[in-house]
Amino acid sequence: MMPIEQDPTPNTKSPSINPHHHTSNRSSDDCSPHGEPSASTKAISPCLEDDDFESPPPPPHFSVLHGSLRPIILKFEDVTCNITLPPTTDSACCLGNPDPKQTRIVLNGVSGIVRPGELLAMLGPSGSGKTTLLTALGGRLPGKVTGSVSYNGQPFSGSIKRKIGFVTQDDVLYPHLTVLETLTYAALLRLPKGLTRQEKMGQAEVVIMELGLVRCRNTMVGGPLLRGISGGERKRVSIGQEMLVNPSLLLLDEPTSGLDSTTAQRILAILRGLARGGRTVMATIHQPSSRLYRMFDKVMVLSDGSPIYTGSATRVMDYFNSIGFKPGFNLVNPADFLLDLANGIVADTTQDDQHELHGRSERHDHASSTKQFLISSYRKNLYPVLKAEIQQSLHDPIHPNSRLPSRSSERQWTTTWWEQFMVLLRRGLKERRHESYSGLRIFQVLSVAFISGLLWWHSDISHLQDQVGLLFFFSIFWGFFPLFNAIFAFPQERPMLIRERASGMYRLSSYYFARMVGDLPMELVLPTIFVTITYYMGGLKPSPVTFLLTLSITLYNVLVSQGLGLALGAMLMDVKQATTLASVTMLVFLLAGGYYIQHIPPFINWLKYISFSHYCYKLLVGVQYSENEVYDCGLEMPCKVVDYPIIKHLGIHDLGFDVAVLTIMLVGYRLLAYVALRMGQPH
Ligand SMILES: Nc1ncnc2c1ncn2[C@@H]1O[C@H](COP(=O)(O)OP(=O)(O)O)[C@@H](O)[C@H]1O
Ligand SMILES: [Mg+2]
Repeated sequence: MMPIEQDPTPNTKSPSINPHHHTSNRSSDDCSPHGEPSASTKAISPCLEDDDFESPPPPPHFSVLHGSLRPIILKFEDVTCNITLPPTTDSACCLGNPDPKQTRIVLNGVSGIVRPGELLAMLGPSGSGKTTLLTALGGRLPGKVTGSVSYNGQPFSGSIKRKIGFVTQDDVLYPHLTVLETLTYAALLRLPKGLTRQEKMGQAEVVIMELGLVRCRNTMVGGPLLRGISGGERKRVSIGQEMLVNPSLLLLDEPTSGLDSTTAQRILAILRGLARGGRTVMATIHQPSSRLYRMFDKVMVLSDGSPIYTGSATRVMDYFNSIGFKPGFNLVNPADFLLDLANGIVADTTQDDQHELHGRSERHDHASSTKQFLISSYRKNLYPVLKAEIQQSLHDPIHPNSRLPSRSSERQWTTTWWEQFMVLLRRGLKERRHESYSGLRIFQVLSVAFISGLLWWHSDISHLQDQVGLLFFFSIFWGFFPLFNAIFAFPQERPMLIRERASGMYRLSSYYFARMVGDLPMELVLPTIFVTITYYMGGLKPSPVTFLLTLSITLYNVLVSQGLGLALGAMLMDVKQATTLASVTMLVFLLAGGYYIQHIPPFINWLKYISFSHYCYKLLVGVQYSENEVYDCGLEMPCKVVDYPIIKHLGIHDLGFDVAVLTIMLVGYRLLAYVALRMGQPH
């Protein structure tokens, strides 16, 4: 097998895991990375077998994921983060607060160092700033934090971004892709150019094996509204997406929350295995059991954004004992003890009765004074040592392999534009196949087609008003329908886009074009069917040329309206706001289109010139009737079509101009959508 990065010299510092180290007689359908499956557990929970975690877990055998090739030493010093809170109504009006802006310290002077091979666990009560710190260390809070964060002594940069694996607390995954598809597409997008397609796909398979996802590889991931794989499996898929690229630094936000202790244990075993392969791993862990706690190398405890302990996991008790805090006799889990301390609760059973006697406010005071004491003893006892350690390792010789590429190659992508486009296109088609070709949408279009076909059944040119009405209906229906479908595109995919762009997976332009092109087939197939049915049922001119022109104009109109929908969605990034704005816009276009009102006051007559429905309608009428065409108007002489009031007012000349305007709109709206999307990007 091959290493992921084309680095000829594997890192000698980090222990490389034996690629052929198989610890169990694994069968092909075994989900466990290293377990001895028992028939009974298999039957109950196909994707989880109980491993004997009491014995030291065997190292995961990352046959492709050798040790990290570019180890990263993560150092952070005095990281501080303030947020400005929006003014509350209370403080602004009732207290007469002259300055409505309040700032809150979310992180206050957090320092630490994590070396390759180490697993640091961050503990702390909810709201203590763990996620904020992790996000800052992942380079995803630019401009909001002060203090220094360095990766092998260098600041954050594009090349480092691709060396970092970041697993957010919420699993942001495409719900309709299977586990295998999710990981394969991620592999195709994230693995470097040097690997062949087969090798990249093989890598996804390896990760599936390592993470024990074999049984669920062909199951849909699912989401809030779609039943899919279980929470633990989803978490492992998220971790797998990051593992694929063999990150040198892996940051995970609560990878074990909401999972049963066995699954949590398994995930931590995997993380520890990754760390032992020479990677730097940092995770926030909520409520670890004592079994989990024993797997940490280092811990950091945060209390209201301030550290109260940073250092070795095994020495934590000694430290707190030395400053006078002892766990109660029944507390065997160090993590519980640490969380109590971070909350300012002293786990001393003798004080419980006193707490009962005193009022709540006193208890609160007691807690905050405990916290203050812990913070100040951290500053006094631990911080100087830590600072010295950070400073001293500044002079560590950096391993030649760990030197990161220079700035010039920062913007280089792992894959070419075309590859990204093709993979994203394929993934988009897979993800949206269910919605594009959903029976509901097809039913919607077909039913409208047949009903309108019946209403206009074999309409005659002598009923010119009816025929023109049908053409107007074409332009309006195919203005509304694609617009409202397109609005959802970007707001719905925004979380995935942000996550994937933050890890430098692809260019925005390749994503954008893939989305454009991926939407085309469906957007064009339905109107084609619709026009074909309604055109012939409605008795419009049977000439094939006229039919084809009518169809082309309708499809062009669809593209323009879709562009407007995409632009509105991208600009507002909120489906509710965008649909409201779109319905107002479309109503204006409908009214100004020229069918309902002919005598619009001049000061508002310009409205029709911004309405694409107007141009489409004009073109449709223009190709349906020729200048010299006559119809039976009930008088002695046949009347000329162009003299018919509606058509006369519309004017069916200068059709080239209408096409030009539609083309400008087609390009303009899509350009607007792209710019809005680019501006909305966090990076
Ligand atoms: N953008 C933000 N706006 C308002 N409050 C925020 C923001 N980011 C973080 N906070 C606040 O900062 C505190 C720490 O948040 P977080 O880092 O998510 O905590 P944890 O992950 O430890 O639960 C919380 O009280 C949260 O409300
Ligand atoms: Mg959090």
